[in-house]
Amino acid sequence: MISKKIEKAINKQMNLEAFSAYIYLSMAAYFEGLNLEGFSHWMRLQAEEELGHAMRLFKYVLERDGNVELLPIKAPPATWKSPLDACQHALKHERVNTKQINDLMDLSFKEVDHATRIFLQWFVAEQVEEESSATKLAEKVRLAGKDGAAILVLDQELLKRQLGAS
Ligand SMILES: [Fe+2]
Ligand SMILES: [Fe+2]
Repeated sequence: MISKKIEKAINKQMNLEAFSAYIYLSMAAYFEGLNLEGFSHWMRLQAEEELGHAMRLFKYVLERDGNVELLPIKAPPATWKSPLDACQHALKHERVNTKQINDLMDLSFKEVDHATRIFLQWFVAEQVEEESSATKLAEKVRLAGKDGAAILVLDQELLKRQLGAS
């Protein structure tokens, strides 16, 4: 059994992962609208990964005999000022997610819940990767600036992303 506090915090994290999927899905649509298929593809895969993170939490709550509570998912923005604005938003959002995972980890220490602490280790490590790939993406888009040719080269590179690889 998990404590009510842990249960509530994990359900909250599940919601944030689902919201993350929504944000990336919205970004996929935004980039599709700009005819940047590589960016769109990258964002779609990212959305799938986020759903996978939500499912990990879902399974864990059930495994620990807890109650899954599916909270309402906020609507993500529908558009951004530019590809750079979208990519910087992605990075900012990953940092928010890291903060909430770290808070959840702190709670697992406070509640002396070793199983949850070990379970959360995967998420802590994953956020290192997530922030790193979001940083690289935002930085490349910033470097490309208004150079359309550079954006198209980057778009081709992003098209190669496969599920499970960032
Ligand atoms: Fe995630
Ligand atoms: Fe993420």
